[in-house]
Amino acid sequence: MNENIQKFRAMVEESDNIVFFGGAGVSTESGIPDFRSVDGLYNQKWKYPPETILSRSFFDRDPAEYYRFHREKLVIDGVAPNRAHLKLAELEQKGKLRAVITQNIDGLHQAAGSKNVLELHGSILRAYCSRCRRIHPADNINHGEGLPLCPCGGIVRPDIVLYEEPLDNDIVSSAIHYIRKADVLIIGGTSLNVYPAAGLINYYRGTKLVLVNLSATPYDDRADLVIHEKIGEVFSQI
Ligand code: OAD
Repeated sequence: MNENIQKFRAMVEESDNIVFFGGAGVSTESGIPDFRSVDGLYNQKWKYPPETILSRSFFDRDPAEYYRFHREKLVIDGVAPNRAHLKLAELEQKGKLRAVITQNIDGLHQAAGSKNVLELHGSILRAYCSRCRRIHPADNINHGEGLPLCPCGGIVRPDIVLYEEPLDNDIVSSAIHYIRKADVLIIGGTSLNVYPAAGLINYYRGTKLVLVNLSATPYDDRADLVIHEKIGEVFSQI
């Protein structure tokens, strides 16, 4: 075990107020591509860049094309939580971790058993009508064909935060609360490029900021410990 992982392990052992803030890199070891790695979603050929397709104005303009992308790229069947998700659930269960704050929409933290999961960008496992807001089963929109319609005639949409849409205020407030109070803040599997989510880490006031990410991030200088390794592998050693 290398020195950084030993330090990380000691911080985790000594704390009962850990908060985790993560992104797409947490799920790559489950087989879900991230957005900005060389083989990530943003580097794949598509008629429009994913940032455009995943925007509210695009959804309103061309929902059929949105759904083609959604079903082909965002919905990945047969995925299971990996060692990072499972370790976080275990730390919560042991009373050491207070919250998982995630930018992911895949539901894998809950599948691993985590209870207090703050989904900043929503979840593809929920859906609602864009007109009357009635709740619909997500399975129909994730696996069906054509445009999913509500009995009211509105288009059913996934309960995710599209670009140009605001984050949920209650979730953001709660995330700020946990980050502000955290003893150890672990940031993992996120390029920290997307705001306002990335800006939330500015609320951390402690001295144990651990960053576990394969590539460098704009916040590496601020971290007390930086580990550029695969998060599942790192978490399996703590
Ligand atoms: P990114 O794709 O921007 O960043 C993922 C980061 O995880 C990269 O820096 C990778 O180096 C790193 N990474 C990949 N696999 C890893 C592994 N096994 N262990 C450790 N690190 C790994 O994804 P996010 O930061 O989550 O928003 O992107 C933020 C938002 O951009 C997403 O929530 C999504 C996207 O547009 C919306 O859809 C609103």
